[in-house]
Amino acid sequence: MKVRKAVIPAAGLGTRFLPATKALPKEMLPIVDKPTIQFIVEEAKKSGIEDILIVIGKNKRPIEDHFDSNPELEQDLKEKGKNDLLKLTQSITHLGVNLYYTRQPHPAGLGDAIFRARSFVGDEPFVVMLGDDLMDDKVPLTKQLIERYNKTHASTIAVMQVPHKEVSKYGVIEPENEIMPGLINVKSFVEKPDIDKAPSDYAIIGRYLLTPEIFDILAHQKPGRGGEIQLTDAIDTMNKTQRVFAHVFKGERHDVGNKEGYLETSIEYGLKHPEIKEQLRAYIQRLDKKFEAEDKAKK
Ligand code: UTP
Repeated sequence: MKVRKAVIPAAGLGTRFLPATKALPKEMLPIVDKPTIQFIVEEAKKSGIEDILIVIGKNKRPIEDHFDSNPELEQDLKEKGKNDLLKLTQSITHLGVNLYYTRQPHPAGLGDAIFRARSFVGDEPFVVMLGDDLMDDKVPLTKQLIERYNKTHASTIAVMQVPHKEVSKYGVIEPENEIMPGLINVKSFVEKPDIDKAPSDYAIIGRYLLTPEIFDILAHQKPGRGGEIQLTDAIDTMNKTQRVFAHVFKGERHDVGNKEGYLETSIEYGLKHPEIKEQLRAYIQRLDKKFEAEDKAKK
């Protein structure tokens, strides 16, 4: 069956970005000039996804507004002859995918957020895309997962090797064997293991292709790590009755879900942005010289 549907959970509290996220959804924080969630919707579109359900919660209205039209703004841009900005603004409403929204009443965990998509997904395979990770590669990661699914018809989770000291921040796989280059048969999935107990350095990154049987498991999933309903736990249970593979992502991953990664990604994307790249590069060079001079003065 063709993979046509995606679920983007966006109902979390974004506590790592407080106070910015007290009233503003974390998913609306921009990388240069584009909200992170727009990058995710664009990746879905490029991967052939037709329908997207965004799971939202309280304070998340700006996400719906962003993808809606804004007649007042558009009229103003038209009257002022700002045609490029008008086109840019209108293009967000015509991204070529259908967007749907549902609410998660309490941020009870990623597994609980995904469970809200049960009737939207129905009996089809689907992808889960987390806004915390921006992925760069020639073929979008979501499309890579779909291509794997088309051959195996099995759930496939994107993973990447991370430094060992960081494994406890992620869901981690216990690999069994590599059945073809970059596709791993998985023994078990563990959410945020202690560093000394981690079964490998392969971390789950923010893209999952799942078969709909995951919902039968999520329906009975008990809270796990941190008292939250964990998607990783449900995937581990599913792996006991049907094959779940891990696909090793070889492209570039930008973790924009924490302050440091967010700023690094902003700088990197800024250095590629046609409008500002030259000024930004010159500024970074000036800054570097300034720090060098300050370090010398201290010695
Ligand atoms: P995160 O844990 O990265 O997001 O969850 P968070 O909870 O918003 O952020 P922090 O840790 O407090 O800073 C990964 C994704 O899952 C969604 C989040 O919105 C995020 O996109 N999520 C998480 C939900 O939709 N519901 C939840 O109950 C938990």
